[in-house]
Amino acid sequence: MNFEILKGISYLDNASSTQKPKVVIDAMNNFYLKNYSNTHRGVYSLSEKATDLFEKSRETIAKFINAKPEEIVFLRSATEGFNHLARTLKAKTVLVTQIEHHSNYLPWKQYSKVSVVSYNKDLGMLDYIPFNYNGEEVVSFTLMSNVSGEILDAKKIIKELRLKNPSVIIVLDASQAVSHMKIDVLDLDCDFLLFSGHKMYGPTGTGVLFGKTHLLEKLDPFLFGGNMVKDSFEGVWADLPQRHEAGTMDGAGFLGLSAAVDFLLDDFDSKMKKEKELQNYLVSKLKEVNARIVGHTADNFGPVVSFILEGIHPHDFASICDRHNVCIRAGHHCAQPFMKALGVFGTSRASISFYNTKEDIDKLIFSITDARKIING
Ligand SMILES: Cc1ncc(COP(=O)(O)O)c(C=O)c1O
Repeated sequence: MNFEILKGISYLDNASSTQKPKVVIDAMNNFYLKNYSNTHRGVYSLSEKATDLFEKSRETIAKFINAKPEEIVFLRSATEGFNHLARTLKAKTVLVTQIEHHSNYLPWKQYSKVSVVSYNKDLGMLDYIPFNYNGEEVVSFTLMSNVSGEILDAKKIIKELRLKNPSVIIVLDASQAVSHMKIDVLDLDCDFLLFSGHKMYGPTGTGVLFGKTHLLEKLDPFLFGGNMVKDSFEGVWADLPQRHEAGTMDGAGFLGLSAAVDFLLDDFDSKMKKEKELQNYLVSKLKEVNARIVGHTADNFGPVVSFILEGIHPHDFASICDRHNVCIRAGHHCAQPFMKALGVFGTSRASISFYNTKEDIDKLIFSITDARKIING
C-alpha cells in the first residue's frame, strides 16, 4: 500500500501537509542506505554519485514547472523563500491580497510598505478585477487560497499588471496550487514562484524558489557560508543556483521531492478528476447540513473548503472529529487578514487529496451531526 498511515483514519488536512507515498520514503531511504555523501563537496565517486542524483532531482523539479535547472533554488520551505525575497529585493512598495498566508505577508511587512487587495465577502472572492494596482514595485499573490480554495487567474492578472508597469516584479505563491494543477512558469510569465515540498507528497524541510535567471543573478544571497562563493575575499558569488544555497543541502529531501513529482504526475488527470468529484461531494454535503461555506461560489475553487458551524468553536469541532478519526484543521490558518475580512476568529477546514474517499467525507458530516448533539444539545 502506498499510504500505510491512512489505514483507519480520514485524513482531510491535506492543505496543511499531505501524507507521503512509499515511493518517496523509499527514495530517501535508498539515498541514505546506498548513495549517501555530502553533495557538491567531494571528488570521490560516492560523492559525485550523490551530487549527480541531487542535480537530477533539480532537473525533474525544473521540468515539473517548465523552468531551467539553474532557475531552481532549493531551500527549506516556501516561508524561507518569501523571507529571502522580502529581504533581498529591498522593494519600497509591495502589493499582496487579503487572502494570503502569513508567509506571503509578514516577511514583506518587515522591509516594505505593503498594500492589500481586498476580499469581497458578498462575492466570496477577491475584488481582483481591476486589481487596485498603484505602481508597487512587487506584486505577490497566491495561486490558490489555503482557506477558501479560491484559484486566481494569475496569467490574466500578470498580463494586466505588466501593461500598467512593465518593470513590476511578480511573485507567485504556489504552495497550495502545486498539488492540484499543472504549473508552467513560462506561460504564467511570473518572475518568482515558491512552494513547499511537504504539501505535494514530498518531505518536510524542502522548498523551491523559481526565479528568472537575470533576476536570480541580480539578487543578493540570503544566507552566507559554504559552497555559495567563488572568492570569499572579493565576495564573488558562485554561479546560479549555488549562490543561493549556502551550507550542506538536504540531499535525501530533494531526492524525495523529485520522487514526489514523478508520483504526482503519474496519471495526473485521473487524480485531479477524482479530487474534483470529492470536492463537489464535500460542498454539496456541507450545504445539506447547513454549514456556512467560505467561497465556493463559482468554478474557480480548488479542493480546500472552509466552513463555519453556528455556535460551535472550530477547535471543539476538530476535537469531536478526532473522536471519529477524522483529521481536519481548525483556526485562522495563518491567514488572520482573511479571517478579519470574514469577521470570524477562525474556521473549520477540510482539504482533499485524490487518496481520500467519499466515506471520509461522510464521516466528517457525521461528526457535524454529533458535534451539534453534544454542544447544542
Ligand atoms: C498558501 C500558503 N502559502 C505558504 C505557506 C507556507 O508553507 P510552509 O509553512 O511550508 O513554508 C502555506 C502553508 O500552509 C500556504 O498554505
